[in-house]
Amino acid sequence: MSFGKIIDKKNNDLSKRIDKQRVPEHVAIIMDGNGRWATKKGLPRTFGHNKGVSVLKEIIKASKKLSCKVLTVYAFSTENWSRPTQEVDYLINLFSEVLRNEIKEIHQESIKIKFIGDLTPFPENLKKIIYNSESLTKNNESLLLNVCVNYGGRQEIVKVAKRLALKSSIGEIKPSEVNEELFNSELLTKGINDPELLIRTSGEKRISNFLLWQLAYSEIYISDVLWPDFNEFEFHKAIIDYQSRNRRFGGIESLQDESCNDSSCSS
Ligand code: IPE
Ligand code: IPE
Ligand code: MG
Repeated sequence: MSFGKIIDKKNNDLSKRIDKQRVPEHVAIIMDGNGRWATKKGLPRTFGHNKGVSVLKEIIKASKKLSCKVLTVYAFSTENWSRPTQEVDYLINLFSEVLRNEIKEIHQESIKIKFIGDLTPFPENLKKIIYNSESLTKNNESLLLNVCVNYGGRQEIVKVAKRLALKSSIGEIKPSEVNEELFNSELLTKGINDPELLIRTSGEKRISNFLLWQLAYSEIYISDVLWPDFNEFEFHKAIIDYQSRNRRFGGIESLQDESCNDSSCSS
């Protein structure tokens, strides 16, 4: 889709083009490109991570405005430990600092925050802030914000397999009872519908071990914009692009032909 024609040049507001009835309930984002953004400017990579935080705040607000129900962001993968210790330490400190500074506003905005991933290796002070933030916001209902930290899709699947194997070995379930529903109920995202839309910034066309089970039928939108330059406008472009897709789920055509928006389609 070309956005050249549809951009309102006066105020760059694409929100009018969004069909409010068909906004994805759950959007997942691989926030990528922080390091390259900083390097391009001759700055240390950490500056990119810092700028990325303000972008995340903008996108959380934008998701809420559109009445998305769930926003799941990839903040630190199980593979990101392989980065230089200095960068890893910086990120861990940044998580604590941002959470400490922002939790009040997150709560005021009625956002429920959840952390998805294995928190075990994180320092006690970060774990404490995480647990306190989750507990403070647990009854909030405007938006569920899932922050994936030390998260890996393969590790999540292996853990589910292990738990089901254990339950089977002690006779709690029969192997024949293992099905998609049961598997789903053991995932870290249990109770949350799969993302309809996955956005990855910085032009990379891969999943990088993110939500491997949950993304089975998500629509994928790759933005060439580096995460620190991403904004509400680019987010709206992703939503509009999503709304132009025909989701078939292995069938022939969706019940409602989403590409039909003129009178010739109504017969
Ligand atoms: C994403 O940006 C943030 C994290 C993985 C923590 P990167 O740090 O991967 O930035 P690039 O991809 O190297 O530019
Ligand atoms: C994915 O980005 C992880 C996060 C955004 C947290 P990476 O930068 O780690 O992914 P690769 O290495 O390019 O696949
Ligand atoms: Mg990257």
